[in-house]
Amino acid sequence: MSDEKKKIEPFLTPKGVHDILPQDHEFHTYIKKVVRHRARQAGFRRISTPIFEYTDLFSRGVGEGSDIVSKEMYTFEDRKERSLTLKPEGTAGVVRAYIQHGLNQWPQPVLLYYYEPHFRYDRPQKGRYRQFWQFGFEIIGESDPALDAQLIQLAYKILEDLGIANLFDIQLNTIGTPDARKRYMQALQDFYVGKERSLCENCRERLHKNPMRLLDCKEEDCQILAKLAPAMKDYLDKESLEYHDELKEYLDEIGLKYTENPQLVRGLDYYGKTVFELWDKSEGAQNAIGGGGRYDGLIELLGGQPTPAVGFAAGVERIIANMKKEKIRVPSKDELHVFVAQLGKEAKKKCLGLIDDLRDAGIKTMGALGKGSINEQLRIAHKFKVIYTVLLGLTEVREGTAIIRDMNKGIQEKVPMEKVPERLVELLGEDRLDKYTPGELI
Ligand code: HAM
Repeated sequence: MSDEKKKIEPFLTPKGVHDILPQDHEFHTYIKKVVRHRARQAGFRRISTPIFEYTDLFSRGVGEGSDIVSKEMYTFEDRKERSLTLKPEGTAGVVRAYIQHGLNQWPQPVLLYYYEPHFRYDRPQKGRYRQFWQFGFEIIGESDPALDAQLIQLAYKILEDLGIANLFDIQLNTIGTPDARKRYMQALQDFYVGKERSLCENCRERLHKNPMRLLDCKEEDCQILAKLAPAMKDYLDKESLEYHDELKEYLDEIGLKYTENPQLVRGLDYYGKTVFELWDKSEGAQNAIGGGGRYDGLIELLGGQPTPAVGFAAGVERIIANMKKEKIRVPSKDELHVFVAQLGKEAKKKCLGLIDDLRDAGIKTMGALGKGSINEQLRIAHKFKVIYTVLLGLTEVREGTAIIRDMNKGIQEKVPMEKVPERLVELLGEDRLDKYTPGELI
């Protein structure tokens, strides 16, 4: 047997998923704050639904014919052979919760928002991952085009707050009531009879399950046919058309620009009437940053009372990529203020109490580590880019003092030990301190 040690290959993340390292968490934190702020201003409250649900919820809710259900779900059986699925989107779970917890008893409409990871077995590429974060808004219990308008405005406002709204265009369409859509889908299927051979494999498959998806296929031949296909507007019902006109009036009134796109259908089956997407002006439908629409039939479809609803969701990774592309920087709360360096065990003991006091005062502090010389510790302090270092040598311990060193100017002062926190607060300034409080307990 060979004595040679076998080299262990390091583990990597599974394909299509990624870690969120501290630098990217700063973006997440900022985006989450913007979303929460805009949500609260408009009366939305946060909801989290489980990471996995019974598979049927999505097959029924999102639709058997959708790409998400037919190809992209992470489905597994638990030990009792129940079929479960990692949530590929947020709306079905929120609607399940609305029904399960009797949220129809709350004042209507119920306004909910979320910021959650979702999972789709997509082909990984730029902006397309197998685990991705979405924030989303759902308004359940009211049908009014003024709500659709406010929701689209909210989506756009968040992009404005994040500094990237100028890169996106609101694409808007109405896809009518389910009845109108059924008639239209029949007309589409009739149109494609005999033309199957000109379609891409994907569209040939979709033709019988979800013919409307043929309209937004990116393949050239499919696009040519889509242009000749019957137009949805000729099949739309009066109610949907009126609803849509009113929505546009409201959008015009609030000065929100949009592009009417009769080909826009969205990839989830639950929509009816309003649909919209936020498209990258340079990339079009590819890598939309967000999308949504009205889903008046979904609550009933999932076992609740007939209840109208509208919502949207946006992809956080795509937002971060665009913020980086635009060189937008977010505040970093991670920088350290103070490093505490010490020499000898007695000094180290004193340091621990001091570090605790500094942190309580809102000063971001690290230190009391290692056995190196003061110079070696100062080098560590430099690497962590702290503003001040507190030095405690044998003399200082004996005297009950400490040295505060300004790391940029290289100057230092000696202060009594008990005055160190006070002096550092003075030097740093109140504004810089990390004094977040979660609020008073009631
Ligand atoms: P969706 O259009 O499927 O809608 O997804 C919304 C956004 O999630 C997309 O625009 C995109 O930014 C992001 N996204 C989707 N898939 C991926 C992926 N594989 N990798 C990275 N980002 C991705 C929905 O999910 C609906 N539930 C929206 C909604 C809410 N409709 C009504 N209420």
